[in-house]
Amino acid sequence: MQPRKVIIDTDPGQDDAIAIMLALASPEEIDLLGITTVAGNVPLSLTEKNARIVCELAGKPQTLVFAGCDRPLSRPLITAEHVHGKTGLDGPVLPDPEMPLQSQHGVDFIIESLRTAPAKTITLCLLGPLTNIASGLLKAPDIADRIEEIVMMGGAYFEVGNITPSAEFNIYVDPEAADIIFKSGIPITVMPLDITHKALVTKPRNEAFRDLGTPVGTATAEMTNFFERFDKEKYGSAGAPLHDPCVTAYLIEPELFTGRFVNVMIETTSELTMGMTVADWWNVTNRPANATFMNDIDADGFFALLTERLGRL
Ligand code: BDR
Ligand code: CA
Repeated sequence: MQPRKVIIDTDPGQDDAIAIMLALASPEEIDLLGITTVAGNVPLSLTEKNARIVCELAGKPQTLVFAGCDRPLSRPLITAEHVHGKTGLDGPVLPDPEMPLQSQHGVDFIIESLRTAPAKTITLCLLGPLTNIASGLLKAPDIADRIEEIVMMGGAYFEVGNITPSAEFNIYVDPEAADIIFKSGIPITVMPLDITHKALVTKPRNEAFRDLGTPVGTATAEMTNFFERFDKEKYGSAGAPLHDPCVTAYLIEPELFTGRFVNVMIETTSELTMGMTVADWWNVTNRPANATFMNDIDADGFFALLTERLGRL
């Protein structure tokens, strides 16, 4: 099988960093065309830098990294330093990157890549707020038909919200962008909090990263050690949830995940429930299904895959 051509759009973030490293460790399945960065967990100047730090940590400094949008489509930026720390990658001490940031805007890279490749041969992996992709669709509506699939981390149904009582962070930061994506007709696979809150870095799983005995293994253990404190305090959970790596794991071993093809709509008007992903899980409306919304994960299989792949870097 040929590897899938993939663009990762991201706001690193420790869990984004691990998702990127999983992709970089898996060239048989993932042909990473480039990484576009967006403002989210921390401002754009940090997310683009963090993406480069992670590529260098993984020993892949030739990876193309682009800066995209520095704020949501029509709202002020909300960030998540309370989860990810001041740099977004708090935990390990990692050197500043030497590899260059590409001069092309991330949105233009996405548009150009989709227009020059054969139609439906590029998958977009979305790990942050959806601003870059929505901007691309606004600027170049023709790209919608050229995207093979969107696989994204965002939203929640049974788990409801992590940034507000009813919304997940990536959707809440730019609900108008999410609304555009879910109405686009592009095939969408969603990794919501319903599964990422089951992908927890327990102590033995953290030790397995550390036991790799490599810079990547040590940094992964230190990153997850740092950002587990937030979820432990808030939910009493057993460790850090690996939200974004579910996206890249899905591209490698889709059978680790199960879900339903349902209608998903985004709340963009009510302040109370802004950014809610209203999934018609029980099929109580006539709204057409537009997304495969996951609700279960083989967590042991996921961590076995992740640890084995990180060990390759
Ligand atoms: C999402 O928000 C960010 O904090 C994480 O990187 C993940 O993409 C989880 O709600
Ligand atoms: Ca993220």
